[in-house]
Amino acid sequence: MNIRVFDSEQQAATACAARLAEAVRARPSLALGLPTGRTPLNVYRELVALSAREGLDWSAVRTFNLDEFVGLPATDGGSFRAYMERHLFRHVNLTPGNIHFLDGVAEDLAAECARYDTALADVGGLGLVLLGIGANGHLAFNEPAEGLVAACHRTRLSRETRLANLMLFGDDPGRVPMEALTLGMGALLQSGRAVLLAFGEGKAEAVRAMVEGPVTPRCPASFLQLHRDVEVWLDAAAARALQ
Ligand code: GLP
Repeated sequence: MNIRVFDSEQQAATACAARLAEAVRARPSLALGLPTGRTPLNVYRELVALSAREGLDWSAVRTFNLDEFVGLPATDGGSFRAYMERHLFRHVNLTPGNIHFLDGVAEDLAAECARYDTALADVGGLGLVLLGIGANGHLAFNEPAEGLVAACHRTRLSRETRLANLMLFGDDPGRVPMEALTLGMGALLQSGRAVLLAFGEGKAEAVRAMVEGPVTPRCPASFLQLHRDVEVWLDAAAARALQ
């Protein structure tokens, strides 16, 4: 794992946006895995600004978001699809047909997961995936468990993870969905390159377990130790527990 500690979250976000832009320029049809949450917000803001400033062309880029809540249509403000529209999609020239998303209200959720894995396989997997990490060590919605799942699947969210997503639901715990669909560990570990961002004290322990702990399903992010090309970009607070 290649670890970089930045002076501030903002510096990491600016560098990350530049790295993503460079990847798009190098491969205009890049298959890009995208996370939601608080962590990538500054990256998306920087990326939108950079795209306008430098005329970055997104028209051939294929995006695959990592996960979506079960039971929320794309039109629901709390859905990850709505988050992506707000923070990235509507601000750059992505081609609508190149935006791939799990449908949390599909009639047959197992079939929806299989469809998503097939769509990803059809483009040769993720060329680059941007990742955050849960305070409990989750990746996308691959929660700590006895065992992890390679394929895209339906999962029950931990209490901690539901609380971490409160901001999308007007801070009302009752509105946070109980389940989600998520890419499995296979798609993440088979990506060409992974860039994981973590900021703040609250992520320090998860970062330590990911980087220095054993590879264990109790910390799904620890499996990134097996990835051939991972960059972990931190601020000082998130790096605090590292040796
Ligand atoms: C969310 C997402 C993850 C994200 C993580 C951390 O629930 N499913 O993809 O990386 O939890 O979120 P945050 O960046 O808000 O701390």
